Amino acid sequence: RKVAILISGRGSNMRRLVDAADNYEVVLVASNRPDAPGLAWADKQGIVTWSKDSRGVDRAAYDAELAHAIEASGAGTVALAGFMRILGPAFIQRFEGRLLNIHPSLLPKYKGLDTHQRALDAGDAEHGCSVHVVTEELDAGEVIAQARVPILEDDTVSTLEARVLAEEHDLYPAALARFVER
Ligand code: GRF
Repeated sequence: RKVAILISGRGSNMRRLVDAADNYEVVLVASNRPDAPGLAWADKQGIVTWSKDSRGVDRAAYDAELAHAIEASGAGTVALAGFMRILGPAFIQRFEGRLLNIHPSLLPKYKGLDTHQRALDAGDAEHGCSVHVVTEELDAGEVIAQARVPILEDDTVSTLEARVLAEEHDLYPAALARFVER
């Protein structure tokens, strides 16, 4: 029931996970960007934070340090929330089945980046977000929750992104609450 949340920036999903925490406890917020705005917010809430700039650091060494910080926190579940660094296989194996991510597309559609632009370019009628279990293959693990939104005629990346983000903010806390029970 103890959860660590990994962020790289704004951290709006992380905030929602903290504010909605009911059957789980957020024991750590960690970031690979020491200046991530979300980190300062978490610190103000009295949550333990950890950060280290990942730029130019060897992936395996970085992952080992991060894993150590997570284990020291006592977290049994790790939720990625806008964490923009690829995690190596050793890290993923270490937390196998206990790692979640939120991705702004209706997986298996649009793995990777620029999902909103790609959905618009494809002329899709709908778009959305997915919470999935993290496996070694990018954005390919079991999808445990999804929310859909319509794509409107005059949508731009920013209007579509905002509509999807609003859904993310409800979907992720609900999915995490269920995940910690299983
Ligand atoms: C969200 O759209 C999330 O799905 C994606 O990155 C964004 C992070 O936003 N992976 P925030 O940092 O949670 O505000």
